[in-house]
Amino acid sequence: MNVTADPKELEGAHTMSEGENQFFSVRDIHAYYGESYIVQGISFDLKKGEVLSLLGRNGAGKTTTLRTLARLDNPQLRSGEIWLDGEPLHERKAHQAAQSGIQLVPEDRRIIGGLTVEENLVLAQVSGEVGWDLDEVYSHFPRLAERRKQEATTMSGGEQQMLAVARALARDIKVLFLDEPYEGLAPVIVQEIEGIVRQIRDIGITTIIVEQNAVAALRLSDRAVIMDTGEIVYEGSAQEVLDNEQLRHDYLAI
Ligand SMILES: Nc1ncnc2c1ncn2[C@@H]1O[C@H](COP(=O)(O)OP(=O)(O)OP(=O)(O)O)[C@@H](O)[C@H]1O
Ligand SMILES: [Mg+2]
Repeated sequence: MNVTADPKELEGAHTMSEGENQFFSVRDIHAYYGESYIVQGISFDLKKGEVLSLLGRNGAGKTTTLRTLARLDNPQLRSGEIWLDGEPLHERKAHQAAQSGIQLVPEDRRIIGGLTVEENLVLAQVSGEVGWDLDEVYSHFPRLAERRKQEATTMSGGEQQMLAVARALARDIKVLFLDEPYEGLAPVIVQEIEGIVRQIRDIGITTIIVEQNAVAALRLSDRAVIMDTGEIVYEGSAQEVLDNEQLRHDYLAI
């Protein structure tokens, strides 16, 4: 960062944070689990409709970063700013962030047992502003249409992942966080979910994908951020990461 600031810029800083002008803006966030300092000053900006790969080794802090951005109680955000479309999410709680249009699809998918596919979708809609209606969901997810009356937790892992994503889209969302959406899935199912993420991108939903399968995530993404021990070690275009063997070797083991 440049330490010699233009006085005009300093003046402006009193009235408006630079994050306010961006669609989704993360400004120097620091987050803790108890006294464990995990997210150590992360910043990035996303334009509306951009797809970002958030990558890094196991334990780098990717899930913790997504949880912080979704404003979950744990970890605790101690400083920094998060702006969504001019709204200060750093001043909000998780349910308010969800109302503002943030949806996190966690690694464990949180499919509700004892309910059918359709009941899981309907429940998502009653707890928030409605996004896609059921017909729209089923047109994008034909496998879920076939299984609408099936008990959701009896579906395959890939089908449950599709339901988890569909449930997020059944609400009125602006930003989607996917934590390891391809984990444990066969390549053919990964391709099917990739197709769905492309459709999501095409309708202009801003997306952050955390994935160990970095190549699959990068080929869908505009940009990439690589984290290590809670800090950003690289930020650039997705293509740059695909082309940079040293970087992939050092931080991604691919
Ligand atoms: N609830 C928690 N309490 C304390 N420490 C935690 C908690 N959850 C995660 N951590 C620690 O925070 C650090 C970052 O974990 P995080 O789950 O964010 O990593 P990650 O990049 O998502 O890793 P992975 O690729 O394995 O999913 C790790 O050292 C982890 O042990
Ligand atoms: Mg994780």
